[in-house]
Amino acid sequence: MFPQQRQSVEIVKFEHVGLYYSSGHAVFYDLNYSFFAGAFYFLTGPSGVGKTSLLKLIYRGLKTSEGKVSVFGKDVNTVGCSELPSFRQRMGLVFQDCRLIDHLSALDNVALALRITGTDTRRSRNYAKELLHWVGLGDHLNSLPPQLSDGQKQRIAIARAVITRPLLLLADEPTGNLDAHSSYRLMSLFEELNKMGTSIILATHNQALVSAFPYVELKLYQGQIQASPAFSNQYRREFY
Ligand SMILES: Nc1ncnc2c1ncn2[C@@H]1O[C@H](COP(=O)(O)OP(=O)(O)O)[C@@H](O)[C@H]1O
Ligand SMILES: [Mg+2]
Repeated sequence: MFPQQRQSVEIVKFEHVGLYYSSGHAVFYDLNYSFFAGAFYFLTGPSGVGKTSLLKLIYRGLKTSEGKVSVFGKDVNTVGCSELPSFRQRMGLVFQDCRLIDHLSALDNVALALRITGTDTRRSRNYAKELLHWVGLGDHLNSLPPQLSDGQKQRIAIARAVITRPLLLLADEPTGNLDAHSSYRLMSLFEELNKMGTSIILATHNQALVSAFPYVELKLYQGQIQASPAFSNQYRREFY
């Protein structure tokens, strides 16, 4: 598929979405926005503005208080508990704190994500190995997460998130604990994935990172999204 064609398919759609926590504070109010397949979005804004909440609404970690969120053409509020695992299989999730299982090797952390979808152990481990090589951790297959740096752990988390070949990758402050070098290394993995067709929504408050890449920036402000268009970034090479 050509990128132009992919861009016109809505992968996530917010319609009149309101989100209120029990305190009554409106995180979102009448939010309307469509995310298109194949695109790369930065979701930005200061701490507390609602980045994590917006991602949660997409993967059904939260339900809307009002309005509708559709993902892959389906109203997420109609996804039953028994359907949630298969619904989420088409999404990869990456969090700031990685959420790896400390007593499992890097290889098993990644393989497990495929194993639980019913793929046999040998195939799961082979594909996990391939992905760990891709993220540059081919020499650490048997390392346990506590033996690795934050950047290495985050690369395991990416391998784990993409092993089910998700259509959509949601990343919540994935570079939050990383130095600049590791952050850009991680970004190059996200870019590669995006070029292969995975849509990406990456929440960050790191404005330097956002400015270095030519992707659409969605700024959250007072419960709404303000989109600034993707720009052709003449500064970009300075970061490599
Ligand atoms: N479980 C919760 N209960 C009540 N309020 C919450 C909860 N989670 C987040 N909030 C509030 O919702 C707002 C948005 O939070 P969040 O989505 O975590 O923002 P961000 O990720 O941009 O820092 C904040 O005001 C926060 O205090
Ligand atoms: Mg957050």
